This record gives sequence, structure tokens and C-alpha cells, in this order.
Amino acid sequence: MFTIRTYPDPVLMRVAEPVTEFGPKLAHMVEEMFLTMYQARGVGLAAPQVGISKRIYIINVEEDQPPEGEIALINPEVISVEGEQYSDEGCLSFPGMFAKKRRPLRATLRAQDVNGEWFEVTGEGLKARALLHELDHLDGKVFVQDLEPVEFVKLRKKLEQMKREAKRAKGKVRA
Ligand code: NI
Repeated sequence: MFTIRTYPDPVLMRVAEPVTEFGPKLAHMVEEMFLTMYQARGVGLAAPQVGISKRIYIINVEEDQPPEGEIALINPEVISVEGEQYSDEGCLSFPGMFAKKRRPLRATLRAQDVNGEWFEVTGEGLKARALLHELDHLDGKVFVQDLEPVEFVKLRKKLEQMKREAKRAKGKVRA
């Protein structure tokens, strides 16, 4: 199980590196990411959120028991997006924070699986939102960027508080 990194951990702002090695070690890491995501009750988790700056993320937006709906995307790329949705979004690296965010309604991506095989995945609604939210993480982008001003204002105080807390924790000697 991994520990989830929270804002403003610098790993969240870094552009992640492509994956070049596939196989059992990667599959195991992805399994650990799923366990971490389920424990945190999330629908998506990107490798930078667990401190690994690699182009890997997982989603599961199905309500059924896992492994139904589990998708792991390695080196993902957008093929096409379509339409628009404007609804609430949150992030495991910003606990308890939600904001309305504009996203395409549908998205089709291609990615490699843990064995390096390319596949395509299409999502609509929440699934499209999750696919694109996690992809942003691989480019060092977090969901509070590009918000409508009225939405950003709601989060500003909490974000400043998180920054202050991180600074304080840094100055402490941890035994
Ligand atoms: Ni996130």
C-alpha cells in the first residue's frame, strides 16, 4: 500500500516520465495502486500521487466489486474529445475539496497495459472526467488549475492553509 501525496507536494507538479519496462514488477505496482485507491475511496489515482513520477494511472468508476471496471493506463494519449460537461470534481491529493470544473463529455484515449500492449478506451461523463483528470496528473497539472474564478475563490483559503501546514511540517524534526 502506498501513501497518497497531498498538495503542495512537488511531485504533483512534475511532468512524469514515460514507462519503458513492462511486466510483473509493473503489474504488482499497479495492484498496490488499486488497493491504495480503494482504501481512499477514490475513482482514480495517478502514479505521481504516490510519489512515482511515471506515466501510469488507474481508474475504476464502476460501482460493482473490483476487478470489474478496473483500467490501468500506461503512457496514455488522448485520441479525441467531444462535447462538454460542467460538474463537481475532487482529487485524493486535495482531501475534502470539490469544485465544478469544465471537461469534455466524452474522451477516447490509447494507452499500454502492464504488458506493453496498446489498447483504446472511451469514456463518457464521470469516466471521461476521471480519464482526463488523471492524465493531467501525469503532466504535473492539478485540478485546482483552470477553474472558473467563482469556483477557485471557494478553495483559495483551504489551499493557502495546506501550503502553510506543509511548510510547518518541513521545519519539524521527525523521529
Ligand atoms: Ni487527482
